[in-house]
Amino acid sequence: MNLVLLGPPGAGKGTQAARIADAFGFVHLSSGDILRAERKAKTELGRKAQDFMDRGVLVPDDLILSMMMDHIGRPEAARGFLLDGFPRTVPQAEGLDRRLADRGKKIDAVVSMVVADAEVTKRLTGRWSCPTDGRIYHEVFSPPRKAGVCDACGTSLTRRKDDEPAVVAQRLRTYHDETEPLVDYYGRQRVLRTVDAAGEVDQVTASIKKVCQA
Ligand code: AP5
Repeated sequence: MNLVLLGPPGAGKGTQAARIADAFGFVHLSSGDILRAERKAKTELGRKAQDFMDRGVLVPDDLILSMMMDHIGRPEAARGFLLDGFPRTVPQAEGLDRRLADRGKKIDAVVSMVVADAEVTKRLTGRWSCPTDGRIYHEVFSPPRKAGVCDACGTSLTRRKDDEPAVVAQRLRTYHDETEPLVDYYGRQRVLRTVDAAGEVDQVTASIKKVCQA
């Protein structure tokens, strides 16, 4: 099964994708995490993406499509993949559909995570993440056992530069303008499932599992 998690910044896509991918045995492919790894490794792609990401606007479609198709084509994705943060525009979704069809594959379900802008703003401005293993925390909603330190590996937690309030506001505008049209796109393909993502993390996980198994 190949899944897409769709939702605004801070909806909890990364938090839920890790749990769902583990539960179903899929590989988790986060476009944001892949881009941040490219930046850290100082690759040409990372350098090109940097300025767009820091401003809270989208990296050009052609760069993202070739990056994500490379990961989708790897052997670990053969049993199924869960896309988080991609596709994010209608041209990305169309490009993905065409390239998957060429490989005899398709998207089986798209889970739209619905949560209000005010709630995601609170989530993002309190987020901390582990630069070593990618675990995600929140200073109020899911704090680490010891403040500022990853529970699993003991690395000092960091904040993302694009979680500053002004950049979060821009990311939300970008989401509503460029990504929300995908709700209609996948609705027309009859693969869209909607979940309320405003509840607690465990509740949201249960809702996603339920709609994926329906
Ligand atoms: P990306 O990294 O994909 O960011 P995003 O989509 O904005 O999503 P986030 O990672 O911020 O949020 P999330 O939904 O994963 O929430 P999380 O689980 O962390 O993209 C970054 C940038 O890269 C983009 O702006 C763009 O420039 C570029 N980019 C990426 N993909 C692209 C593409 N396809 N095309 C073009 N450009 C692209 O949770 C957030 C916080 O909330 C955490 O602190 C968490 O602990 C907490 N939380 C989670 N769930 C709950 C809950 N149920 N209750 C309370 N708190 C919760």
